[in-house]
Amino acid sequence: MSSSSILPLFEQAAAEVSGAPLYAPIGCLATVGLNGKPASRHMGWHWTIVGEKKASIFCFTHAKTQKIEELKQNEAVQVCFYFPLAPAQCRMSGNAQVVSAGSTEAALQEHRSSGWKKLPDAMKEHYAGPTEANAPSDEFLMLWIPLHSVEWLNMQTQETVREDF
Ligand SMILES: Cc1cc2nc3c(=O)[nH]c(=O)nc-3n(C[C@H](O)[C@H](O)[C@H](O)COP(=O)(O)O)c2cc1C
Repeated sequence: MSSSSILPLFEQAAAEVSGAPLYAPIGCLATVGLNGKPASRHMGWHWTIVGEKKASIFCFTHAKTQKIEELKQNEAVQVCFYFPLAPAQCRMSGNAQVVSAGSTEAALQEHRSSGWKKLPDAMKEHYAGPTEANAPSDEFLMLWIPLHSVEWLNMQTQETVREDF
């Protein structure tokens, strides 16, 4: 397949959900637990699509969460979205890169900083305690997931499309 047929669908469906009271589309992040069994949890997601064949999704989390320990052992993840307006399910797979204060890639630090700036004060306190800091707290981590494959299930037609990147 020469150009992506799924990414535009994802972008539109995710943008529609972002208009809802929750600030970002919610998807369930599946990791491999420390015991080798599946572990999953809901997260708010952001995305960046470059051209037709390159896309990454990213989210923010606290350094002292179980998922960070799990990703040290196995970085393979899958994120599952339900878009009720489409209606569709979208499953995205890739390897998660943990972006911390010490990470050197400027473009990724830029995404992390801009995520920090948009956080409500109460959430900033969750990460850093009471603070006026403009720079992201060390506990504020970004999970950056360049996508390896995406599967789109159209819930009306039951048609499934899968793309590898
Ligand atoms: C709708 C919803 C959105 C959530 N968004 C986030 C998020 O963006 N970041 C986050 O760290 N936790 C978020 N959580 C909490 C996580 O589901 C999870 O409980 C937490 O990150 C700890 O997960 P872990 O112990 O498996 O690492 C959200 C929970 C819900 C129900």
